[in-house]
Amino acid sequence: MNLILLGAPGAGKGTQAEVVCEKLNIPAISTGNIIRAAVKEGTEMGVKAKSYIDSGALVPDDVIIGIIKERLAEPDCQNGFILDGVPRTVAQAEALETMGVRIDKVVDIEVADEKIIERLSGRRVCSACGASYHTAFKPSSQPDKCDRCGGALIIRKDDEPATVLERLKVYHELTEPLIDFYRQRGKLVVVEGQEEIADTTALLMKALEA
Ligand code: AP5
Ligand code: MG
Repeated sequence: MNLILLGAPGAGKGTQAEVVCEKLNIPAISTGNIIRAAVKEGTEMGVKAKSYIDSGALVPDDVIIGIIKERLAEPDCQNGFILDGVPRTVAQAEALETMGVRIDKVVDIEVADEKIIERLSGRRVCSACGASYHTAFKPSSQPDKCDRCGGALIIRKDDEPATVLERLKVYHELTEPLIDFYRQRGKLVVVEGQEEIADTTALLMKALEA
């Protein structure tokens, strides 16, 4: 199964990708996580990407296309993959087609903008493995410590309210057109994001079976 998760920032792409990749036994690939790791390591790409990510802008398409080409060539992608947060522009989607990457389904997780603010203001992420938590909706068992790897939980810099608004604006302008792009190709399924994380997962798994 080659899957794309679409949705606004904070819609729950990363949260669902973490669960679904275990159920389907395929890797989840988050360009956001790959870029944040590069920023942390201070690689050339990380240094270039930092100012975009911090301001809520998109990282240039050529950088993203390079990242994804390299990642999809790794052996663990042979039996399928989940793309979380990529493609995010029509140019990126077209680049995947040009690369000959087969996509089976594109799941659009729909969540209203008002909910997004609430979700992102309480999000905590693991500084080591990137796992995502929420102070109210998905708390870690020990405060500020990752359940999965024990890493320290931090607040993402781009989760500041002003940056969230900018990310939402960018989403509506540049990423939302992908909904029609994949609908026209008969790949799109829409899942209404639910209040409970597990309820969204149940709808998503059902949508994948259909
Ligand atoms: P990226 O890391 O992909 O950020 P994003 O798309 O803004 O998405 P988020 O990670 O913020 O949200 P999510 O949908 O994963 O939500 P989550 O599951 O955490 O990208 C960051 C930046 O990198 C971009 O701004 C850009 O600069 C750059 N970039 C990355 N990819 C790029 C690309 N392809 N092209 C160009 N630039 C790129 O959930 C959010 C919170 O809500 C969590 O706290 C979670 O616990 C909680 N939650 C989840 N589901 C529920 C639920 N059902 N009920 C209650 N709470 C919930
Ligand atoms: Mg994410």
